[in-house]
Amino acid sequence: MNPDPLDFLLADLDRLLAEDAKGARVARLLAEYTQSGSSDWKRFALFEANYYARNLIRRTELYELIVLCWSKGQRSPIHEHAGQRCWMGVLEGTVRETIYRVREDSLQPPAVGPSREFCAGGVAYIVDEMGWHRIEPVGERPAVTLHLYSRSIPECRVIDEVSGTVLSKRMSYHSVGGKVLAQGVGSPQRE
Ligand code: SIN
Repeated sequence: MNPDPLDFLLADLDRLLAEDAKGARVARLLAEYTQSGSSDWKRFALFEANYYARNLIRRTELYELIVLCWSKGQRSPIHEHAGQRCWMGVLEGTVRETIYRVREDSLQPPAVGPSREFCAGGVAYIVDEMGWHRIEPVGERPAVTLHLYSRSIPECRVIDEVSGTVLSKRMSYHSVGGKVLAQGVGSPQRE
């Protein structure tokens, strides 16, 4: 059986991240994949009714590659990335990324920074020095995004929507390798 484009992407990521490649090279690779018209990601694109779904493709010592599925109104909390690099490529639909400046030493709400919209084929990059962020789908259509973290992010800090305080959240998955996990193991960031 011939390898899928996703297999080539994974092999390139294994190599590039072992070389500790510059962010721009990794972003180019993700852009090539998201702009290639490949549909082999679709078997990982599993939605959840109540929350955006995090679907793991692969996690190694160096990175974590996940497909996130966003229905209308499903948005991430405002969160940081636990010191790791984060790339996001859009596979389907349009998402908005809003940057926040979180004042950890005060009870002030986070300051809202710039926001940008990314449509299919677009790639965004963020590290904690650039701020915290929130991702959400734009308009009526669902969106599907491909996220690469290096290294993986088992836990990160989020702003709790109700109290406005900073909480630590465990990041888990709705599915792994295309198989939905038992209920309760799924998306981590339920409010
Ligand atoms: C992101 O920060 O790239 C999306 C949020 C998540 O991984 O759950």
